Amino acid sequence: MRLSDAEQKQFDEEGYLFFPGRFSPEEARLLKQAADDVYAMDREEVWREKSGVARTAFAAHTYNEPFRRLGSHPRLVDPVSQVLEGDVYMHQFKVNAKAAFDGDVWQWHQDYGTWKRDDEMPEPRAMNIAVFLDDVTAANGPLLFIPGSHKQGVVEAGHDLSTTSYPLWTLDNALVKQLADRGGCVAPTGPAGSMLMFSSLLVHASPANISPFDRTIVYLSLCHVDNHIRAFNRAEWIAHRDFTPITALDDDCLDELVAAQLAAAE
Ligand code: SIN
Ligand code: MN
Repeated sequence: MRLSDAEQKQFDEEGYLFFPGRFSPEEARLLKQAADDVYAMDREEVWREKSGVARTAFAAHTYNEPFRRLGSHPRLVDPVSQVLEGDVYMHQFKVNAKAAFDGDVWQWHQDYGTWKRDDEMPEPRAMNIAVFLDDVTAANGPLLFIPGSHKQGVVEAGHDLSTTSYPLWTLDNALVKQLADRGGCVAPTGPAGSMLMFSSLLVHASPANISPFDRTIVYLSLCHVDNHIRAFNRAEWIAHRDFTPITALDDDCLDELVAAQLAAAE
């Protein structure tokens, strides 16, 4: 699947593209089960909220088969390669839980702000592409984007080590207000299986989830191979050091796993 000229223009102007229902309900169900399997593991890659429920699982593509395949899925890899104009490698892979009642905030930030400061990634030639594994609604802690904020380059940020269990370079409220006065603030919502790609410079956040519904989203952070990180300050499973170009699998690469899950349920 190639992005059309109109989609590329929209991405350039707004910093993100949303594709509701890009993955089937069956594919989303398979991946949601995979997320639950991963969260049940006692591994260092699974980070927990202060309450103890899972917050995020890093590098699940290295220890879970459905996520291994998703990490090379053409619906995710191809549009990013197209926009970044070349081969990409996996800089980060995370399955964010945002669990019912307990899912905590992600403060206002730019992903590239962290990748530059912590990992010495040379340029913002990297981006996120995400798949919703639950329905994402206004109620269960959707992502909030400031459209057009990616045009500002890397903005000022401070290293927040205390608000949540995950350290992040975050923006102060005055700067967020100034950017949102110009670009507004949107929350892409849609059914499980929806796909979202967004610039690594786009300013974003998500509120806590006090609803009774989970909001699981899996993110591939893909980087152009020439733009690999230069500093290895963070764990290998947070900021990967394997810069091998990803070879996309076939579009039906999840089908046999979906069939096996359905057969097991009968
Ligand atoms: C992120 O910004 O990296 C994660 C936000 C979320 O999953 O809500
Ligand atoms: Mn982020």
